[in-house]
Amino acid sequence: MLAFIYNEQGKLELKQVEMPKVTEKSAVAKIEAASICGTDLRTYRFGSSKIKPPRIIGHEMVGTIVEVGRQVKGFAVGDRVQIAPAIGCGQCPSCKKGNTNLCDNLKTVGFDFDGTFAEYIHIPEEAFAQDHVTKVPDHLDPKEAVLTEPIACIVNAQNYLHISKGDNVAIFGSGFIGTMHAQLAYHQGADKVFMIEVNDERISKAKELLPQLVTINSLKEDLYSTIMTHTVNRGVDVAITACSVGSAQSDALNIIAKRGRVSLFGGLPKESKGFLDSNIIHYKEVSVFGAHASTVAQNRYVMNLIASGKLNVKPFIKKTFSLTEILDAFAALNNESIVKAVLVP
Ligand SMILES: NC(=O)c1ccc[n+]([C@@H]2O[C@H](COP(=O)([O-])OP(=O)(O)OC[C@H]3O[C@@H](n4cnc5c(N)ncnc54)[C@H](O)[C@@H]3O)[C@@H](O)[C@H]2O)c1
Ligand SMILES: [Zn+2]
Ligand SMILES: [Zn+2]
Repeated sequence: MLAFIYNEQGKLELKQVEMPKVTEKSAVAKIEAASICGTDLRTYRFGSSKIKPPRIIGHEMVGTIVEVGRQVKGFAVGDRVQIAPAIGCGQCPSCKKGNTNLCDNLKTVGFDFDGTFAEYIHIPEEAFAQDHVTKVPDHLDPKEAVLTEPIACIVNAQNYLHISKGDNVAIFGSGFIGTMHAQLAYHQGADKVFMIEVNDERISKAKELLPQLVTINSLKEDLYSTIMTHTVNRGVDVAITACSVGSAQSDALNIIAKRGRVSLFGGLPKESKGFLDSNIIHYKEVSVFGAHASTVAQNRYVMNLIASGKLNVKPFIKKTFSLTEILDAFAALNNESIVKAVLVP
C-alpha cells in the first residue's frame, strides 16, 4: 500500500510499504479521510524528535474496518471508525483521574504507532483496550468527522477558560486551530473575538469564515492600543496563543485584563523559553493554562456536536487532496494558502 513515512534520515517520503497485519486484538481499517495537523506541519518543517522512524505519520482519521481480530469486541468489518489518537496506559495517576492525554506512558498514533497518511491503518490493540475507537454515525461525511480530533484539543483547552456571555477573547494565529477556537468561543457566548495575525491572506480567510471577527494585523497595527480602544482600557478576558511563536505569549499577557485567563495552546520549539513576565501574572491575578492533546471523551463530545449539526465544520473543508498529492497539501499549508488539508486517499 502507499504510505507517507518519516524515515531514518528524518525525511518524509511517499512509498509502497507492506499492508498492515491484523492480530487477535487489533484491526485494519481503510482510510476514508485523514487531515494534516499543525504538528504534522512542524514535522514537515523541522523533523521530530518524538517520532520513532521509520513511521507512517498523521493522527487525524476516519476509516472503515476491513479486518478485525477475533478478540476485538463490539467492532465488525464495515464499521466506520475514528481513533482518539493520544492513548493512555490506563494505569498511571493521570489516567486514573481520566486525564489520559497527560498519561505518563502516552502512546500516540503517528508517533508511537503507524499513522493515518496511508491507504490502510493498523488500529493497535491499545486503542481497543483503552476504548479509544469510536463509531462514526452513518450519515456523517468522513471529511467532516475527520476534524473531530483537532477540535477535541480545542475543547480540552477551553475547559480551563470558562468563556461565557460577554467575555472578550483574543486569539493569536488564524490557522484552522485559531479560527475554530474563535467559533467555539462564540458558541460559549463570547462578545468580541479579536483575531490577531501577521499574514493578511490568513486574516481574510478567517474573516470569510467568521465575518463578526475583529481582525488585527499585529505587524501593521499597534496591538495594545487597538485592544484597549475596543475594550474601554480593560484588556481581554481570555487570550489564546494558537501559534508556535513566543512573542505571541508575551503579547497575550500585555493585553490580558485583570483576572484574565490565558491558554498557551501552541507549544514552542524546544530552544525557546522565557516569554512570560511573571509579575504581570502576579499583579493582574492572571491564570495561565497549558493544553495538550485530548481525551476520548472530548473526541466523542465533538463528534456528537458535528453529527448533530450544532457545529458546522463544512466551511473549513475547502480543498481535499489524494494521498499522491500529499506533498502539495503540505506545501499549501506551509505557504499558508490553505487553512486545513483533508486527504481522501
Ligand atoms: N495544544 C494542543 O493540543 C494542540 C493541538 C493541535 C495544534 N496545536 C498547536 O496549535 C497551533 C496552531 O495550529 P494550526 O494548525 O492552526 O497552525 P498554522 O500554522 O496553520 O497557523 C498558525 C497561524 O499563526 C500565525 N502567526 C504566526 N506568528 C504570529 C504572531 N506572532 N501573532 C499572531 N499570529 C501569528 C501564522 O501566520 C498562521 O496563520 C500550533 O502551534 C500547533 O502546534 C496544539
Ligand atoms: Zn497512563
Ligand atoms: Zn491533530
